[in-house]
Amino acid sequence: MKTDIIFHEFEEVDSTNRVLIDMARDGAPCGTVVWAHRQSGGRGRLGRSFSSPEGGVYISFLLPLPKESESMSFTLTAMAGVAVKRTIFQVCNLNCGIKWVNDIIFNGKKVCGILAQAAEDKVVLGIGVNYTTPQSSFPAELRDIACSLYDGSDAAPPMADFVRALAQNIYETCAGEDESWLEVYKSSSTIVGNEVQIIQAGKVVGNGRAICIDDLCHLHVLGEDGKETVLSTGEVSVRKRND
Ligand code: BTN
Repeated sequence: MKTDIIFHEFEEVDSTNRVLIDMARDGAPCGTVVWAHRQSGGRGRLGRSFSSPEGGVYISFLLPLPKESESMSFTLTAMAGVAVKRTIFQVCNLNCGIKWVNDIIFNGKKVCGILAQAAEDKVVLGIGVNYTTPQSSFPAELRDIACSLYDGSDAAPPMADFVRALAQNIYETCAGEDESWLEVYKSSSTIVGNEVQIIQAGKVVGNGRAICIDDLCHLHVLGEDGKETVLSTGEVSVRKRND
């Protein structure tokens, strides 16, 4: 089903997710999109903040709420990861990986984060892509782990082209009509096959090898004790053992 897309573009907001959640409360329809060039209070996963200087694409999409609440945090954000990866390839001709659950990785560093939040009977899917953000604009503590697609705007395709293509890909991929996204998601994993640490509330709670991602986008980790753990909660994350 085709969704009509309605863009609202801002120079700066606190958080495009916050703005769109408020618009949803006021009755905005699915297809409403909030795009900003900077955020003063960007929200990240697990209650963190998201650094949002000039040069990034900060954008939130209003989507129908999936029937099962679990699919909101996994399937939808995994689909969004595939939509971002596809857009980066189509518009920029660059190849990215996906670090479970939904960080987009370019040249070994995070180039995009995704955060889904409930809004009335809908979902706000927020995406932050470091597009032409100069490396020097990131806070010092992020410079080793975050990067941009382009270090400066000279070689970059126009940001508006990227945003339009991203919106198309998000509404097509997240509508679930094209089932190929799951294979793309699995084959783009930067984690499977690696030794990982399982992190909960900031603490390492287990070590093992990431062995596969299943059809529900859950990550299977074979622990050092030989037991398999299936990771499916938004409170758990993984990092490569030498990261
Ligand atoms: C993460 O990696 O922790 C998720 C980051 C999500 C950031 C995006 S930027 C657009 C939208 N608005 C926000 O406040 N957050 C999301």
